[in-house]
Amino acid sequence: MKKRVFSGVQPSGSLTIGNYFGAIRNFAKLQHEADCFFCVVDLHALTVPQDPATLRENIKNTARLFIAAGIDPRVSTVFVQSQVSAHSELSWLLECQTYIGELRRMTQFKAKAGKQDVVTTGLLTYPVLMAADILLYNTDLVPVGEDQKQHLEITRDLAIRINNRFQEEIFKVPEPYIPPRQSGGRIMSLTDPGEKMSKSAENPKSYITLLDPPDLIKKKIMSAVTDSEATIRYDEGQKPAVSNLMVIYSLCSGESLEAITQKYEGCGYGQFKKELAELLVETLRPLQEKFHELSAPGVIEEILADGANRARAAAEPKLRLFQEKLGLLPFA
Ligand code: TYM
Repeated sequence: MKKRVFSGVQPSGSLTIGNYFGAIRNFAKLQHEADCFFCVVDLHALTVPQDPATLRENIKNTARLFIAAGIDPRVSTVFVQSQVSAHSELSWLLECQTYIGELRRMTQFKAKAGKQDVVTTGLLTYPVLMAADILLYNTDLVPVGEDQKQHLEITRDLAIRINNRFQEEIFKVPEPYIPPRQSGGRIMSLTDPGEKMSKSAENPKSYITLLDPPDLIKKKIMSAVTDSEATIRYDEGQKPAVSNLMVIYSLCSGESLEAITQKYEGCGYGQFKKELAELLVETLRPLQEKFHELSAPGVIEEILADGANRARAAAEPKLRLFQEKLGLLPFA
């Protein structure tokens, strides 16, 4: 039996190379060895204010980026969360098994809530919807970046709590699939290596999006912060900015961090950055070309309609099973 893989990405504008190296690139790799479901989690995006027309475009563009990054929609199921209503339905049932205290303690809730004038309930219950996404599909593995670790822990806790309550395995307890930092698990900001790279950051120089044109990529890499030591070596603690650039280099070229250190011995940061920018531009070029091909009218809509049908068929039985266990009536 192939393992079941599920992961989701929020449709918040063009995705960054953090999203790509931390998660999406691994989606494409996993699809040949596992049965994969990749979801544009539009309902999660609604936890913060969204402009409707922009959101609609972002949902489609996120799905296009999945495919441009190598996900084959005939092999993997690519779909939009709100088009499979079982996600919202299971989320409610799980909310009734979740403690407010455990949601309030979530690091991402605390960070996001601190930035908003008003805090919606959706921001608090965000991890429960994420647990519903994962648990609906009997998921074995969830490929994500390091920042999602805590959300996966609460998903596992919920599954275990419910299985214990009913004395049987209703939900499979999923395993996280998080790359180590050297392999992209946490790509850092280009302007502040103490922060993760994020598209919601105020300074656009801090992140590179998958659709940034070559000139802009070059500018952003050339202006990335470094340090005053002028040696290229990996040391997360002492040299976080240079280490982050080395990780991106290694992910683009396939060379090890040691090989990169040797290659640039005696070289300044300028030459290293120039070559890194060229590598990154070449790495993203095929993805950008494919993305534009997918922009023809109707193409992505058709892929998503097919994906939603497949996802509905896979998700419904689990929802019905749990409804029945809770004492709800079967569908007439
Ligand atoms: P989101 O949309 O913020 O990010 C999508 C994926 O990209 C990873 N990521 C990063 N990895 C490395 N370095 C970075 N700087 C970086 N920034 C983002 C994230 O870890 C994630 O894997 N809550 C999720 C979406 C979600 C989900 C799910 C994920 C909803 N339901 C079910 C898995 C399973 C989120 O906001 O990801």
